Order: sequence, then C-alpha cells, then structure tokens
Amino acid sequence: MVDAMQSHRNQVFEKLLACIKECSQANISVDLGQVVYDASFKMMFSTIFSLDSVCDEKVREIKDLMDCIIKEIGRPNIADCYPFLKVVDPQCIRHRLTSYCAKVFKLFDQILEVRLKSREELVKYSGIYNDLLDVIVEVMEEQRDDIKREHVQHLLLDLLGAGMNATSKTIEWAMTELLENPNVLQKLQEEIENVAGKGMNQVMESNIPQLPYLQAVVTETLRLHPTAPLLLPRKVTEQIEIYGFVLPNDSMLIVNTWAIGRDPFTWDDQDVFTPERFMGTKVDVKAQVIKLFTFGAGKKICPGMSLALSVSYLMLANLVSYFDWKLDDSVELHQDMGMLDDYFGITLTKTKSLCAFPTERKRFV
Ligand code: HEM
Repeated sequence: MVDAMQSHRNQVFEKLLACIKECSQANISVDLGQVVYDASFKMMFSTIFSLDSVCDEKVREIKDLMDCIIKEIGRPNIADCYPFLKVVDPQCIRHRLTSYCAKVFKLFDQILEVRLKSREELVKYSGIYNDLLDVIVEVMEEQRDDIKREHVQHLLLDLLGAGMNATSKTIEWAMTELLENPNVLQKLQEEIENVAGKGMNQVMESNIPQLPYLQAVVTETLRLHPTAPLLLPRKVTEQIEIYGFVLPNDSMLIVNTWAIGRDPFTWDDQDVFTPERFMGTKVDVKAQVIKLFTFGAGKKICPGMSLALSVSYLMLANLVSYFDWKLDDSVELHQDMGMLDDYFGITLTKTKSLCAFPTERKRFV
C-alpha cells in the first residue's frame, strides 16, 4: 500500500527539489523547516486524497485548518491538570478546536461525497486503488453498518495531522544534526553516491535497502529527537504496580521516550550524534526503532511508521545528495540552531526553524 503511492510522493518531491534549486541559483537561504513541512503535508495529502483530485483552494483551506488544529492540540491546557476546569474551558482551547474540526470535517465530507459519486458512476469498479481514500471508501461500503462518515472524518484528521507534522520535524532535526556534524554528512553523501551512482537524478525508494548509513542517521535522529517524546497519554483502567510504584485506576500514564533514548545505562555517549552505533552486519533498523519506542508500542503503535520511515529516508537522501548546505555565517552552531531549546507541544519542535544556503552538488550539474 505504502509502495503503491510512491508516484504521488515522487511528484511532490520533484517540485521540492526544483524550488530548492531556484534558491541555490539565486543564492537565497532556504527555510528548511517550512519547505519540508509544506512538502510533507502535500505528500501526506496526495497519499490520502491524490493532490490533483482536489482544487488548490480547498487544499490550502485544509492545510490552514490543520495548522491551527496542530497548534491548539500542542498548547498546554490547564484543564488537563485540573479536570474540573474542562467544562469551563478557561483558555477556550476546546472551543477553538471544535470550530476548526467542524470546518475541516465539512471539507473532508465534500471530497468524500465526490469520491462516492464517482465510484457510483463506474459500471464496474476496477479494483485499482489510486490513493488511501479509495481503500477507505471500499472498506466503508463493505461495512456500512459499522463504519459511518463521522468515523472516516476522524480517521482522515488523525492520518493527516499525525503524518504531516511528525515526519517533517524528524527530517528537520536530521538536517540540523548533519549540519552540526559535517563528517557524518560527508559519509552519508559518499554512501549515496556509491549506491546511486554519479549520473543518477533522484534517489528512489528502491535504493533505500542499500543505504544502511542513511537508515542509521534517521534512527539516531529519532533516538535524540523523538518527535512525539511523551507518546500519546494513556489512561490506567485498573490499579497496577510497576517496579513498586502503584498507579491508581483512572490515572494518566505518560511514557518518556526522550529519556529512553538518552538513558546513560543503555547508550554510550548518550548525548552525542553517532549513527555508527546502529551500523553492523545484522542490525534490523525497524527493530531498533521499535526498541526506542519512538513510534510507541503495542496496540497503539503508530500506524504510519513504514510510511514515515520511507519518506524520511527519501527526503533526506535527496536533500543531501543534490545539494551541499551551508549555514548563514551569523549563525552560531548548536546555540543558534535551536538545538538546546525545544518548543512545548505534542511534537518536539525546534525553537528556530532551520535555514541554510543550498549549493547544487557537482555530480548533478
Ligand atoms: C517520524 C514520523 C512519526 C513519528 C515519530 C510518529 C510517532 C507516533 C507516536 C509516538 C504515536 C503514539 C503511539 C503511542 O502512543 O503508543 C503515533 C500515533 C499515530 N501516528 Fe504516528 N508518527 C510518525 C508519522 C506518522 C505518519 C506518517 C502517519 C500517517 C500515516 C502517522 C499516523 C499516526 C496515527 C493515526 C496515530 C494515532 C494512533 C492511535 O491513536 O491509535 N504517524 N505516532
């Protein structure tokens, strides 16, 4: 399924590279945080809906609403600490969220309506899935009694919201670490060049299995900068005891994956960016990522893990194989790159977006 939507992702990708190429020729710095975020949204959107099946105006409207929803969800809410305040909603977070969600659900519903109609018009459904919505609609029709439109609207919101934000933050953190560690960047560029060849235009998903160092760079980024550092909160449904600590029924349980990734008893030089720690003859990257809990675990494990890893590998590989990157001379490494401060929210976001100057690499000129 993830593989089937590759062509959508490649299209978005080509546009991203063309946009960076223009900046490189004009010697303009690129706000990597922003362009990667926009591209991740488009990739996610086209994987779910096919970008060309929805008019630009509607896509923009959905993106603006999703930006607002993500901001509100990440805002510290005093009612989470004092549940009796939930009804009062003192910061109006629930009020604003309800309004944004209602608007975005309406837009999803319009897209769904068009899709259902176009399916009705087909004499015989071809069985070919062009995007995720085709699959969802098929399941919805097969299970009419159980799956209603409201369920689909919420599912679409979850997929789009979770997909667009976390992946782009991972890529931005990876690029930040690579600029902070030029030796790692060079090693990565060499690996890609050896596998993809000097004359190749774009690293494709089929190249990824031959790029273990690229995979290790992404895993190491997830270890140090897990995009959902506290996962999603869990609720204890019956009193349990863990290592002598009693968790009463109904309490909220938060898993700190940020601390797991930096545990000095598990990792040597726990604060140092060293992708080599994940290299070896038989290292299974997916198993390592699961061990880090970066995507959660058990029944609630992130359903987008494969897609997120594919997109992260692909975007990172192409960003560094097409271009060399240089920070503005005025930027103090480490301090000014927002590596020391994280922005409070559901995802671990840099306080400063990563801006850098791209230069086209010789092998592609
Ligand atoms: C690097 C990128 C990503 C990271 C680090 C990440 C991480 C996570 C984590 C930690 C959770 C909570 C799991 C738990 O509490 O045990 C989660 C949930 C979720 N993720 Fe991701 N995710 C990423 C990308 C994606 C993508 C691309 C999609 C969409 C296809 C996606 C869809 C979801 C959904 C729908 C949930 C909620 C699952 C539920 O409530 O049961 N994620 N993700």
